Amino acid sequence: TIRSVVRGIGSYLPERVMENAEFANELGLDTSDEWIRERTGIKRRHIAAEGQTTSDLGYHAALRALEHAGMSADELDLILVATSTPDLTFPSTATMIQHRLGISHGAAFDVQAVCSGFLYGIHLADALISSGAHKRIMLIGAETFSRILDWDDRGTCVLFGDGAGAIILEATADTQDGVIHSVIRSDGSHRDMLYVDGGPSATGTVGKLRMLGNAVFKHAVTDIAGIIRTCAEEAGQDVPTIDWFVPHQANQRILVAVARKLKLRPEQVISTVSEHANTSAASVPLAWDAAVRDGRIKRGDTVMLEAFGGGFTWGACLLRY
Ligand code: ACO
Repeated sequence: TIRSVVRGIGSYLPERVMENAEFANELGLDTSDEWIRERTGIKRRHIAAEGQTTSDLGYHAALRALEHAGMSADELDLILVATSTPDLTFPSTATMIQHRLGISHGAAFDVQAVCSGFLYGIHLADALISSGAHKRIMLIGAETFSRILDWDDRGTCVLFGDGAGAIILEATADTQDGVIHSVIRSDGSHRDMLYVDGGPSATGTVGKLRMLGNAVFKHAVTDIAGIIRTCAEEAGQDVPTIDWFVPHQANQRILVAVARKLKLRPEQVISTVSEHANTSAASVPLAWDAAVRDGRIKRGDTVMLEAFGGGFTWGACLLRY
């Protein structure tokens, strides 16, 4: 059998750091550093500069993943970009990154599943590698959610940040490493709890993010715990014996609630939400890369990735790094 092995990983954050205090001090919002830290665990987030687009962040993350893998872009045969904040309605952000990487062979396209986009992408990439259709896939999660925030709404604008992360998956035979199992789910009935109120076909505008945070929170905890259990069970693995959990970084309280339900030790759970806030499809590879680079996640370790987001969509993936 052919497995999808992680050859390289990289991430990129825009230079500008926005501290919690700026929401009250600069934007005049009725909020505080203390409220944001206590309710979300977020301390700061990175914000893309004017003119700095999703493809730009994704391109830099891709370069770092190539460097980590010791590979050149010529070796890739597919580029997938998980994003809900593309540079333009079309062409896809993936083809823009393909061009910037200096290649014109293979294929490139975007995947849209909001905060679960990276999990949908890994599910798709693994299937394309297992089937023999592709050999080396660059999967990027890249977002500029700062562009779709209502900066007057304290209930949403404090929660998000910009960034990108990327992995390279390679078809490998006779190995125990790489993707072991992945599961994705969606349920469109909760659309009104989390959506963007504009788009090319409905309004002809870009729109702003709208969320009923409290309701989303409850669904997130239940669905994330459920899909982690399903993914582990279908892979024949006991949840607490998995070495590392790399969750979507939306809110520290969601991470803690899920860990409690699954009886995980806090040290098993990678958290970057305090520094990055919620970067949607970029959050999982950003957190994963941070834990690889600081030496926590090592080659041979088992890792459970998970995410939950607009749609609703959710997903989990068990792999050996
Ligand atoms: N500063 C101060 N007060 C605030 C702020 C703020 N930034 N935001 C909201 N409040 C107020 C509310 O107005 C409300 O006031 P009221 O009681 O007078 O009406 C009060 O705080 C409590 O509001 P809740 O919404 O009940 O607060 P909660 O503890 O649920 O925290 C939060 C809100 C942080 C949004 C939380 O619900 C959350 O993180 N939800 C999940 C978000 C999420 O995970 N999204 C995931 C997917 S994202 C994606 O897919 C794009």
